[in-house]
Amino acid sequence: MISNSKKNQRVVSGMRSTGALHLGHYHGVLKNWVEMQYQHECFFFAADWHALTTHYKDPSEVPQHVVEMVVDWLAAGIAPHSATIFLQSQVPEHAELYLLLSMLTPVSWLERVPTYKDQQEKLKAHDLSTMGFLGYPLLQAADILIYKADLVPVGEDQVSHIELTREVARRFNFTYGKEPDFEERAKQAIRKLGKKNGKIYRNYQRAYQEQGDKEAIAKGRTFLELQQNISVADRERLLAYLEGMSKIILPEPDSILTKASKMPGLDGQKMSKSYGNTIPLRSSPDAIDKSIRKMPTDPARMRLTDKGNPEKCPVWQLHLVYSDDSRREWVQQGCSTASIGCLNCKMHIIEAVQAELEPMRERAKVFEKDPQAVRKIIIEGSEKARNQARQTLDDVVEAMRFSDF
Ligand code: TRP
Ligand code: SF4
Repeated sequence: MISNSKKNQRVVSGMRSTGALHLGHYHGVLKNWVEMQYQHECFFFAADWHALTTHYKDPSEVPQHVVEMVVDWLAAGIAPHSATIFLQSQVPEHAELYLLLSMLTPVSWLERVPTYKDQQEKLKAHDLSTMGFLGYPLLQAADILIYKADLVPVGEDQVSHIELTREVARRFNFTYGKEPDFEERAKQAIRKLGKKNGKIYRNYQRAYQEQGDKEAIAKGRTFLELQQNISVADRERLLAYLEGMSKIILPEPDSILTKASKMPGLDGQKMSKSYGNTIPLRSSPDAIDKSIRKMPTDPARMRLTDKGNPEKCPVWQLHLVYSDDSRREWVQQGCSTASIGCLNCKMHIIEAVQAELEPMRERAKVFEKDPQAVRKIIIEGSEKARNQARQTLDDVVEAMRFSDF
């Protein structure tokens, strides 16, 4: 069972929209999203602006890619009544926050993000010398902070982007989070807690600020959540005051690392569109059958009577994803003694993949026939997201004093 406080945590995650998804996306990301949508308040979006970093020369396909991708999400089991599904460019508040954050973000912070140089090296075919590419992680920070997200599920390669997000949030709060009379208001709020509880609060505050006891913050936070007779604003003030800071306008999110997808492709390398070794989520049964039958096996097994070694075979990698212990034992045994044939060995994978993809294909059918319905889901989700984003932006604008105009 997931605790109540976790239930209230908000999850935000996005995916660059670059077209139809494959089994690697399902095992690496979507399965995880599907689970989370029942445990948290979730916002999942198609990052079409982020897709521009590599596709700015020809963005004409981006809208189609968005629809394709969202159909795959729906097919995988993301449910619009459980999660908010939306499109980044339909919520222009992301861009406004990005602009404001860019004013206080040192260029060196962005240059230091490891993906910056890595990707420039790897993707030589794309022109990544743009300001948009340098700012990629900052736009991502805006995507996250605009929803005051608590948790961001990402792969390992994105952890540095969440780190940057936290640093930018901290800098923002430090710079703009000072109400002129913050200290006075915080002290008033402590008085509102009452004598006994005020003392408890002071003790947590001291334990952290004087002894660096991090647990005191967690305990103090729980304690404040239980206090009934203070306003939301006062509770936030006291949370911030606990750490000796000013008001928190943009809370720092945590990343949750999605286990690196071990999903191997048809050739044993990681499944990826750029390697041409994928099984698309909406493949026909026939295509699945053909592509797995054609998979290379241990080159030592030229004939049925040749003994093989599963470690040298990409099909074995798929057994590690789909098969239970007894089936794996059967493969190990049968392969190394030449008592099973490769096709027989592959049949079990074919069956497993068919069983996994069949319900997705069924769910996708409805949406393939009715792209308007997909569009409607995205537009309604975007409106919902936009309401949330607007609220945060109001806080931001107020903290930066633009509201004084
Ligand atoms: N950069 C992410 C990726 O390539 C996509 C992304 C954009 C994202 N904005 C986000 C992920 C916000 C999480 C949160 O996978
Ligand atoms: Fe690969 Fe299975 Fe053939 Fe062994 S029997 S080489 S594991 S396909």
